[in-house]
Amino acid sequence: MTMQTLARDGAGISAGQPARTYLMCPPTYFDVQYAINAWMDPTSPVDRDRARHEWERLRATYASLGHTVHVLPPVPGLPDMVFAANGATVVGGMVLGARFRHPERAAEADAHRIWFEEHGYRRIRTAEHVNEGEGDYAFAYRAIVAGHGFRTDPVAHNELHDAFGLPVVSVRLIDPRFYHLDTALCVIDPFTAAYYPGAFDEDGLIKLQALFPELIEATEEDALAFGLNAVSDGRNVIVPDDAMTLIARLTERGFHVIPIEMTELRKAGGGPKCCTLELRP
Ligand code: ARG
Repeated sequence: MTMQTLARDGAGISAGQPARTYLMCPPTYFDVQYAINAWMDPTSPVDRDRARHEWERLRATYASLGHTVHVLPPVPGLPDMVFAANGATVVGGMVLGARFRHPERAAEADAHRIWFEEHGYRRIRTAEHVNEGEGDYAFAYRAIVAGHGFRTDPVAHNELHDAFGLPVVSVRLIDPRFYHLDTALCVIDPFTAAYYPGAFDEDGLIKLQALFPELIEATEEDALAFGLNAVSDGRNVIVPDDAMTLIARLTERGFHVIPIEMTELRKAGGGPKCCTLELRP
């Protein structure tokens, strides 16, 4: 198959590429009012209309690919709630709730739990230890990669294993700019992941190399452009448009890359993946 055919096929869901279901929360109350990561500067203003525009574009992109997006109602006073990926982890219809590290975001966990209760989810577990959902937990088909170091408590990784029964591969994050696993690692398909090596310690790098037959390296520039905060359905990969090297490397390997602008939400330390919680049936 030529690269062009691959790209054409990538414009939608091709055979064997199941549609995904995502939960997103609009940036209605988005703001940078506090600083809980290295990206946030409460003294520099955010443009909420622009954030809304970026968010709508992302939502429309999922729809154009045939994916379903559910909307979590935003709550006033929770300016980071747009980062829906942090509110839970959902695999096989089972929901593991989040428990946020910082009090500023604590109430988001309840808003998520209520949404799941009201939408027919029967298996919902409340977390005992700090875990920031898919911010630090990356579903990798045969296993879940679990980050710790800045947010999620390593003890929570046991809870993760109990909830889903999948092997958990614990990795430590060492660079405060990449405070959540989803800023440094993106699972592309069952065999492929993209990562920024500088975000992990030696032990983590060995584990990632053992888990993924194909590991695509992102440059520091890509990582700083939130390139690893990408969303993949196994074929189409939505990537912040300034992660140039990563975009080229994914394209070379036959993935259909959809570049997206997401600079306003980055002011809070987030990108496309942070805005997207996958609901795996
Ligand atoms: N300001 C938010 C925080 O620091 C950003 C969260 C981004 N989400 C993510 N999945 N990395 O918690």
